[in-house]
Order: sequence, then structure tokens, then C-alpha cells
Amino acid sequence: MSINIRCANPNDLLNIQHCNLQCLPENYQMKYYLYHALSWPQLSYVAEDERNQIVGYVLAKMEEDCEDNPHGHITSLAVKRSHRRLGIAQKLMNQASRAMVECFKAKYVSLHVRRSNRAALNLYTNSLDFEVSEIEPKYYADGEDAYAMKRDLKSFKEEKDTSSDNCYSNITIKNDECC
Ligand SMILES: CC(C)(COP(=O)(O)OP(=O)(O)OC[C@H]1O[C@@H](n2cnc3c(N)ncnc32)[C@H](O)[C@@H]1OP(=O)(O)O)[C@@H](O)C(=O)NCCC(=O)NCCS
Repeated sequence: MSINIRCANPNDLLNIQHCNLQCLPENYQMKYYLYHALSWPQLSYVAEDERNQIVGYVLAKMEEDCEDNPHGHITSLAVKRSHRRLGIAQKLMNQASRAMVECFKAKYVSLHVRRSNRAALNLYTNSLDFEVSEIEPKYYADGEDAYAMKRDLKSFKEEKDTSSDNCYSNITIKNDECC
């Protein structure tokens, strides 16, 4: 199995929406996906299999209210069940974060996650260095609390300052690199 991670484009949006509907209860109208794709075309990524089927995505944006402290936000992340525990989410998140630093000088990235979402919480805290910044009671429509989390992006800034690579490079995950 070989998985390619690349920047998302408007042609991907229906497949991203389909993946979202399969994986998460938080769903969005197509205009919200389009808003991300048109406003921050550099920040959202997809993972596709050998047949170019989308098996995962990260939908990301910049927060618009803070020019002196630029930071990004992860709107949504999902990987199809058939392709989990291969490191795909970790790579999608790192690509989006790197792009936030390279394109918008982001200092940190934020997100919300359900208190009960053990898989995502493990991913964010163990693999990606996020920390809980606050608990938002009844954040979700069904009344569940959210952890608001943040990740400092200074390691990506240091990487950018010392490397000639950029966030636009595709990444391929081959079977023998997975778990
Ligand atoms: C959460 C999710 C995106 C993880 O995707 P993934 O591609 O399987 O994650 P990765 O393979 O990159 O996992 C990296 C690390 O995260 C943690 N992790 C991921 N899934 C886990 C699980 N089911 N249980 C415990 N830890 C888990 C592990 O530490 C893992 O490292 P390891 O495999 O070396 O132990 C995926 O389970 C998913 O799409 N879930 C439904 C949608 C969702 O919850 N999205 C997040 C909303 S905030």
C-alpha cells in the first residue's frame, strides 16, 4: 500500500465531505469547505491511495482576528477506518502546521476535541505535542464538553529557517514505513 499526501484542491471537496460524513458527527455545508479552499488554499491536505481515492483529510484555516499573533486552526481531521494507525493523521497535521508557518508565519495552531475521543486525544498529546488550554463545557451540539488544545509551532519555524524544503512537497507513505 502506498499513500500520497498532497495539498487539497477544489476538486477534492466532495470527496473530503464524503470522508467527513463517514467519520465524524460534525458535518459542514459545501460552502464551508469552499470557504477554506478559497481563503487558505495552502493549508488543507488530503491523503490518497494508489487509486487516487481520498482516505483522509485535514481541513485547516487561519484565525482572522489576530494579526499581531497569527495562528492557525484545525477545523476538521479524519482518516477512513480502513486506513487508520498508519501515521496518516500525524502526517496530515504536520503538513498543515508547516504550511501555516511557511505561508502565514503562524505561531501556534489550535483545535477542539471531544473529551471522549481517546484516539484523537492520544494523537494530539502523544504524537503532536498539543496541550489542553481550556475545557469548553457543552461545546458540541449533543452537549459534550470540548478540550481546546494548542500546539506551539516554533519547531516548524526553526525547520523552515534551516531547510530549503517547503510545505508543497508531496509525502508518500509506503507499506514498509507504516507501523
Ligand atoms: C483520530 C484519527 C484522525 C487518527 O487517525 P490515524 O491516521 O489513525 O492516526 P495515526 O496513525 O497518525 O496515529 C498516530 C498516533 O495517534 C494515537 N492514536 C491514533 N489512533 C488511536 C487509537 N484508536 N487509540 C489510541 N491511540 C491512537 C497513537 O498514539 C498513534 O501512534 P501509534 O500508532 O504509533 O500508537 C482517526 O482515528 C479518525 O479519523 N477518527 C474519527 C474522526 C476524528 O475523531 N477526528 C478527530 C476529531 S478532533
